[in-house]
Amino acid sequence: MIDLQRVREETPATAHRVYMHNAGAALMPVPVVEAMKRHIDLEAEIGGYAAAAQEDVRLQAVYASIARLLNASPAEIAIMENATVAWQMAFYALSFRPGDRILTAEAEYAANYVAYLQVAKRTGAVIEVVPNDETGQLDVAALDRLIDKRVKLIAVTWIPTNGGLVNPAAAVGKVARSHGITYLLDACQAVGQMPADVEQVGCDLLSATGRKFLRGPRGTGFLYVRDNLLHRLEPPMIDHFAAPWVARDRYQLRDDARRFETWENNYAARLGLGVAIDYALDLGLDTIEARCRLLAGRLRAGLAAIPGLRLRDLGRDPSAIVSFTIEGRASQDIVAGAGRAGITIGVSNPSSTRLDAEARSLPPVVRASPHYYNTEAEIDRLIEFCAR
Ligand SMILES: Cc1ncc(COP(=O)(O)O)c(C=O)c1O
Repeated sequence: MIDLQRVREETPATAHRVYMHNAGAALMPVPVVEAMKRHIDLEAEIGGYAAAAQEDVRLQAVYASIARLLNASPAEIAIMENATVAWQMAFYALSFRPGDRILTAEAEYAANYVAYLQVAKRTGAVIEVVPNDETGQLDVAALDRLIDKRVKLIAVTWIPTNGGLVNPAAAVGKVARSHGITYLLDACQAVGQMPADVEQVGCDLLSATGRKFLRGPRGTGFLYVRDNLLHRLEPPMIDHFAAPWVARDRYQLRDDARRFETWENNYAARLGLGVAIDYALDLGLDTIEARCRLLAGRLRAGLAAIPGLRLRDLGRDPSAIVSFTIEGRASQDIVAGAGRAGITIGVSNPSSTRLDAEARSLPPVVRASPHYYNTEAEIDRLIEFCAR
C-alpha cells in the first residue's frame, strides 16, 4: 500500500492542483528537488568540478539505481540528457545494408519513426510495420510470421505517448530472442508506472526518460545496452570520455555503456534522477502499477458514461495514459478549460504517432495521465469537469 498522505505531502503542489499530466512531465517529489538544489548550491559554493568530485559516490550510485530499476548491471547503463538521445545513440550505432528490414509497430513514436526514415533513405533498409491485433496492440503472431534473415532490428514503443496501449514487450522479446534479432525498446512511458525488467522483457537496448512517470527532472534519460551487444556497438559519435585518446592516431572505446555518453553533464539533474528512481523503488513498481491501473480504470469508467465523450485507448490492459475526445469540443479547449479549473492535463497531437492517428482518423486527443499520488476524488473531479 502507498502512504498517500506522505507522498502527497512530499508533492506539495497536490495541495492546490489536480495534476494528471504525468505522461508529459510528472511532479517531482521534494527529495528530488532538494537533492538538485543542494548540488546547485554546492556548485555555487565550491565550483562545479569540486562539487562533482565531492559527490562522486552519490553520482556513481545513480548507475546502480538505474540498474536496479531495470534488473541490469551498472556497466550496461549510460545516463543521457533525454530518452531521444539515448534511443538515437543505440539506433544509429546499428548498421544496415540495402534490403535489411526494420520491424516496428503502428503506434511508434514520431522521433523514432523519422530516424527509421532517415536511415532507410541513407542505407536502403526498409521499414515494415507489424499490424495490430483485434485489441489494437502489436500482433505477436504477425510479427513472428514477418521474420526472415533480412530482419536486422525489431524496434517498438512499449507504451505509446497516447492511447493507453501497452504493447506486449515481453512477447516481442521472445520472438526477437528465438531468432537472434536485435531488439530496441522505447520504454519512455513505461518506466516509473510499472516494472521494467530487461531480463523479463528480453530487449537488447532500452531507452527511457526521467521526467515522466519516474518523477525525475527534465533533461534526464538513460540507455540500457545488453552486455553481449555492447562490445559490438560503436557509438555513432564519440568524444574523449566515450573513447579516451590513447595514442596520437588511436582511441579506445570504454568497456561499459558509458561509451555512449560525453564528458560534460548536468550533475544536479543526475542526482535528482537517482533520487527519483530510489523513491519509486522504495514504493515498489508493482505497487505503483496497481495504483496507476486502479486510478486509470476509474477514470475510464467515469468518462465512458459521459454522452459524446469517446475514449481513444487501445489494448488489452491499458496503462495510466487515458486518451479521449468530446464531440463538438476541441481537445485544446478542454485542456485549457481544465487548467482554469485547477486540473492539469495535456493534448496529444496526431503527428506524435502518425501511423496510428491516420489509421484511426484521430484528431488531437486529450491526454489525462494520473499517477499513484492522485486521489480517487481528483479522478472524480476530472470526470465531473468533462461531464459539464
Ligand atoms: C513514447 C515516447 N518515446 C520517447 C519520448 C521522448 O522522450 P524525451 O523527450 O525524454 O526525449 C517520448 C516523450 O514524450 C515518448 O512519449
